[in-house]
Amino acid sequence: MIISVIFFCLVTGAVHTEAPVDACFRVPVKNSVECNVRTLSADRDVVGSMHSDGAKRLAIRCGSDHLESTLKDHYFIRMQGLMEIVLTDCKILRLPGNVFEGLRGLKTLELRTMNNHWGHNKELELSLGAFNGLRELHTLDLGYNNIRKIPADLFCALENIISLNLTRNKIKFVDELGFGHKCGSILQTIDLSYNDIMSLPADSEILHLRRLNQLFLQNNKISELPTEVFSDLLSLKVVNLSENAINYLPEGLFQNTKEIREIYLNHNDLEILPKKLFNRLEQLVVLDLSANKLKGDHIEDETFGDS
Ligand SMILES: *[C@@H]1O[C@H](CO)[C@@H](O)[C@H](O)[C@H]1NC(C)=O
Ligand SMILES: *[C@@H]1O[C@H](CO)[C@@H](O)[C@H](O)[C@H]1NC(C)=O
Repeated sequence: MIISVIFFCLVTGAVHTEAPVDACFRVPVKNSVECNVRTLSADRDVVGSMHSDGAKRLAIRCGSDHLESTLKDHYFIRMQGLMEIVLTDCKILRLPGNVFEGLRGLKTLELRTMNNHWGHNKELELSLGAFNGLRELHTLDLGYNNIRKIPADLFCALENIISLNLTRNKIKFVDELGFGHKCGSILQTIDLSYNDIMSLPADSEILHLRRLNQLFLQNNKISELPTEVFSDLLSLKVVNLSENAINYLPEGLFQNTKEIREIYLNHNDLEILPKKLFNRLEQLVVLDLSANKLKGDHIEDETFGDS
């Protein structure tokens, strides 16, 4: 009993000396600062007031009550050594320009407002310039934000982005995805699953992401794919189109994707497959066509080989 009381005092004492702000504490093994706050506010400097010298990682979780958080430009400027930021559950309606400006070494950014739990119409609006200054960023996670629209060229500030997660937003149109026609040239992975995408137009910016390896489009409302949709994606290895409403696949769809290893087309409305659809895909190891309306007599030798 006495021992545990002493132990308790030691532990709380230790936490107190390391947590100048009530809600934040240092986790030395992770070289991390972790905060539990009610909200973030543009006027109250949660970040600047903590002793965060040399911290590489900042994780902030907001209270689960649905109160709005606000950020302003240069919000994290006093923690310039950060390599990773994780913001969870902070309900934000607008990401202002230059909010991460000054974080020259930031490699990973995860911003999950969970606005979708707050309300259907609580959308996160991204200002053009929101990601300015993040020259080293390679992984960006913007899932669960109720994002509807991405400003043109938004991601062009991220010269080193390799992986982008946009799962569980409200994106309907993928003609403009923030990459213009020239940016995103080293992007390898994009996750657009669980959005409201209905089609992949032939002029979609996705088609210009030439290094793309993995394309996640599952759980959308896509019904058709144009023939040329993958024709410039020469490095594509994994494509997930499951749980859509695809009823037709054009014959040359996979003609140029010679590196492809995994194709998921399960849970769609396919009734027939064009001849030679999966012709000469020599790397293919997974092909999931389950839960469609295919009949056995529509799959022929020709579907896979060129006999
Ligand atoms: C995107 O985030 C979701 C939800 O956390 C996760 O399941 C998925 O694997 C992520 N996508 C990628 C490509 O990492
Ligand atoms: C593809 O999407 C389906 C449906 O959401 C999911 O169950 C499966 O795990 C995904 N597989 C891969 C490899 O992404």
